[in-house]
Amino acid sequence: MTKAFYVTTPIYYVNDAPHIGHAYTSIAADVLTRYHKLRGESARYLTGTDEHGLKLERRAKELGEAPQAFVDRMAPRFSEMTNVIGSSPDDFIRTTEPRHKQSVQEMWRRMEANGDIYLGEYKGLYCVPCEAYYTEKDLAEGNLCPVHKRPVENVAEKSFFFRLSKYTEPLLKFYEANPTFVAPEGRFNEVKSFVREGLRDLSVSRTSFTWGVPVPEHPEHVMYVWLDALTNYISALGGPKETDLFKTFWAPNARAIHIVGKDILRFHAVYWPAFLMSAGVPLPTQVWAHGWLTVDGEKMSKSLGNFIPPGPLAEAFGADVIRYYLMRDVGFGQDGDFSHKNVLARYHGDLGNGLGNLLNRMVTSIVQKNLGGVVPKPSALEPVDRELVRVAEASAKAAAAALEAIQPNRALDAIWELVAAANKYVDQTAPWALAKQGQTERLGTVAYTVLEALRWLSILLAPFMPEKTRDLRAQLGVAPLDPKVGQDEWPSAWGGLEAGTTTAPAAPLFPRFDEAQEKAIFDRLGVGKTKPVTESKATPATKPEAKPAAAPATPAAAEGEPAFIEFDDFAKVKLKLGLVLAAERVPKSDKMLKLQIDVGEAAPRQVLAGIGKHYEPEALVGKRVTVVTNLKPRKMMGLESQGMVLAASDDAGLSVLGVDKDIRPGGDVK
Ligand code: ME8
Ligand code: MG
Repeated sequence: MTKAFYVTTPIYYVNDAPHIGHAYTSIAADVLTRYHKLRGESARYLTGTDEHGLKLERRAKELGEAPQAFVDRMAPRFSEMTNVIGSSPDDFIRTTEPRHKQSVQEMWRRMEANGDIYLGEYKGLYCVPCEAYYTEKDLAEGNLCPVHKRPVENVAEKSFFFRLSKYTEPLLKFYEANPTFVAPEGRFNEVKSFVREGLRDLSVSRTSFTWGVPVPEHPEHVMYVWLDALTNYISALGGPKETDLFKTFWAPNARAIHIVGKDILRFHAVYWPAFLMSAGVPLPTQVWAHGWLTVDGEKMSKSLGNFIPPGPLAEAFGADVIRYYLMRDVGFGQDGDFSHKNVLARYHGDLGNGLGNLLNRMVTSIVQKNLGGVVPKPSALEPVDRELVRVAEASAKAAAAALEAIQPNRALDAIWELVAAANKYVDQTAPWALAKQGQTERLGTVAYTVLEALRWLSILLAPFMPEKTRDLRAQLGVAPLDPKVGQDEWPSAWGGLEAGTTTAPAAPLFPRFDEAQEKAIFDRLGVGKTKPVTESKATPATKPEAKPAAAPATPAAAEGEPAFIEFDDFAKVKLKLGLVLAAERVPKSDKMLKLQIDVGEAAPRQVLAGIGKHYEPEALVGKRVTVVTNLKPRKMMGLESQGMVLAASDDAGLSVLGVDKDIRPGGDVK
């Protein structure tokens, strides 16, 4: 029998609001699992939430909540997101669960027993949003985190270290022996060159905060959140202990595949295998790094107002349409761009005109009007019929091969060859003419051939569109698919549809939206609207904090609700009119300006603003600008910033936000 199949998504940080980027990974994992289940394999799909670490502890504190209460409140948004997109994980793990903590501590004990853990002091740089350590040479210009482009923090504290350096050679050997361990290949090459440079020991515990899994025997240390988080993939199976579940679904007995975004490949392809080697646990089969989704060509972010939660989208189009769109439109492994327009184009094109129309023409029209609504019995096949059978067989084979290779978009390309061929077949064989001419026998063969092709499509597409294919099967009069281990449902023998089956024409699978409906949908989704005032191009000229973009001060809107804030939330932001008294460039930065601003207080405030590409310092002196005065002061490039200057920007440039009368410095802005 084929090996069991185990697929995982990253466990998502609970502080973020779920968006289509997360949905993308979860849809891919779900599609693959459904496929393997259809093939009669034991298949298991795991997702969950990453709930420990400094980022979450700080976020909870800001909201005045206990960390556990905070993560308990947030985690359901990810399980809901999972449902909303029609994805059915077999398990959902939260890193705050006891079963997980036990596993993580067991991993630690094994790594320690192997002599790979030692006590030392960590002195270096840390990016909290990444939960990652950096060295000077990793940093972007201005000593910023290369991912978040925000200041990293200096850390100096007692810490346990993991002897990652010891695994440089073993990892390289392992990569050599397992040439498909990381996909796509190009990304694997990046991983290898990174490891070839030599690995440094990794700080794997912290003592300056407490929100994490305690280190065994040293409860004053909590474990590094990535060691904690990565272990979810086996803790959910009861591992590293040899439980039945673990033995069934972990490598080498099973094909264990981690689907991740390219952003976190290094953790999965370097740290994770090294931890496992150290603990004497087999390594997963493959780490698959997919690309990055942008929205209309821009990085998705709340502050840009182009943040797409999957809920409203699935409500407007149906989860299956979103699943189809994302799996078809984006080459798996490549970056992709989401656009509402393209969703609609796929909806009306491939789905409506292609698949929906084929079903409609045959079941609602021909079979109903001429064949009593019953599947006819075919007679001898003519070459044109045999050609369609050949395309169906080729399409099923190619789709299976593509799904085995984790290329969902290629699978859909292959399946659409059948959709196109079947539509062409209907045009060529002209069943309406056959009916008119009373060629009932030939009509029966033609109708049967199309109906059987539709039945094949109802299986081939089931991993992608579980709901729509159930509908499709209902219209054909066949039972819903009910995958069972040991029973391969993938179509291979032509003629499975029984003559005499009563079809059940129903509403179109993908009803056409007229212009008014389209507009209503787009309005509801806020497409093409000017961006909401609070999230408009009034981008902060200084970003002294990472939070405003990723995590609003109020709990983010639940799925399906517009992201409104209460007036009280707005009132929390203290805005004052400020007069710029002095301005100069921050050395070694072409972006940063250091401003002294009178905001009506005893002394002027020092504010750092990233507007140096748009203003000469002299030009700002004497200008009135809007300043956020109650942001927590923050160090950037060694200088303290005591506020934030607001500015508006577009493709052409940037302007600080001022006033058109001489309001006195310190005047309220609201
Ligand atoms: O990194 N395009 O969690 P996270 C494509 N907790 N995929 C995207 C995406 C986008 N724009 N945005 C997010 C973490 N993703 C850690 C993981 S695993 C042991 C711990 C998806 O909430 C993609 O899968 O930041 C990416 O890797 C993941 O969400 C990051 O989720
Ligand atoms: Mg992230």
